Amino acid sequence: MASLNTQSRKHARKQQIRPLAGSLLALAIGFGVATAHADDALPKLATKTPLKVGFAQTESNNPWRLAETKSFKDIAAKCGWQVVMTDANGSNSKQVSDIQSMIAQHVDLLVFPPREEKPLAPVVLQAKKAGIPVILVDRDVDQSVAKAGRDYITFIGSDFIDQGHRAADWLVKATGGKAKIIELEGTTGASAANDRKKGFDEIIAKNPGMTIIASQSGDFARDKGRQVMETLLQAHPEVTAVYAHNDEMALGAIAAIKAAGKQPGKDIQIVTIDGTKGGMDAIAAGELGASVQSSPFFGPLACDVAQRYAKGEKIPTWVKVSDRFYDKSNVQQSMQYGY
Ligand code: AHR
Repeated sequence: MASLNTQSRKHARKQQIRPLAGSLLALAIGFGVATAHADDALPKLATKTPLKVGFAQTESNNPWRLAETKSFKDIAAKCGWQVVMTDANGSNSKQVSDIQSMIAQHVDLLVFPPREEKPLAPVVLQAKKAGIPVILVDRDVDQSVAKAGRDYITFIGSDFIDQGHRAADWLVKATGGKAKIIELEGTTGASAANDRKKGFDEIIAKNPGMTIIASQSGDFARDKGRQVMETLLQAHPEVTAVYAHNDEMALGAIAAIKAAGKQPGKDIQIVTIDGTKGGMDAIAAGELGASVQSSPFFGPLACDVAQRYAKGEKIPTWVKVSDRFYDKSNVQQSMQYGY
């Protein structure tokens, strides 16, 4: 069941829907499409089968990315898609050139998670100019350059600011409102990192007993998270809590904390985002306190949106995904959602 949601976002998306995770859900008709001038009209999408769809992945260095890619592989046949896939190996410029090459091949539809907000915005406009409709999944682009509903069909993804709020709320409770926090940020310039930081920092700023003593990027990667945590632990031995923008960096931080002779989950409370199998196992082991789920399963939702768009239905500018939350109270019975 989808319910309308009227929260606003930093780029003033006015209407969204909240589909239940993992299922195809009806989109609300008549909501959320920005008014566009005639020359701003979005490209149309053919109703043919197969539809040639370009999916340009950012990197494949963690379970979240692999689950996202798999969800597109799994839906392709069911959706009548012939998918062209690329992997940018963590490079914005490669992701841009991968997408440009898909534009040159005249794919019918482009779907991608923009690695960073700014560098990936112009290529959305290039696709529009070439008459190719675009659906952004997982991360968004800079709305001052390319706007949902005007330059691309929609953004399908989580509310990253809310994820940051939920992680901070848990930490405030778990620490009784007193903590010295190290924040391990995701990829600098990615909407997921920008908004997860914003949401978390907003709540922490309202709690005088909580201080962020250091905040540094670990690039959403386990080993980088471990290295950054090693260095920050030496500079800030007084740390009592860690907020990592994803599970992989939290698992890296746990390794660094153990190597420093401290006990994760006891000496240092840790909260994170993603809800991977590895993260859930760490919660069950008492080393990780909590993880806000961030669903990577965009394939079915993108298929549903594309089919409705091709039929001429109006699509909300943000198809919002709702996320679960795991801590020791529910992790055992939630293991089937891990990936
Ligand atoms: O954009 C979503 C984030 O990107 C996920 O939290 C992370 O694991 C991934 O690399």
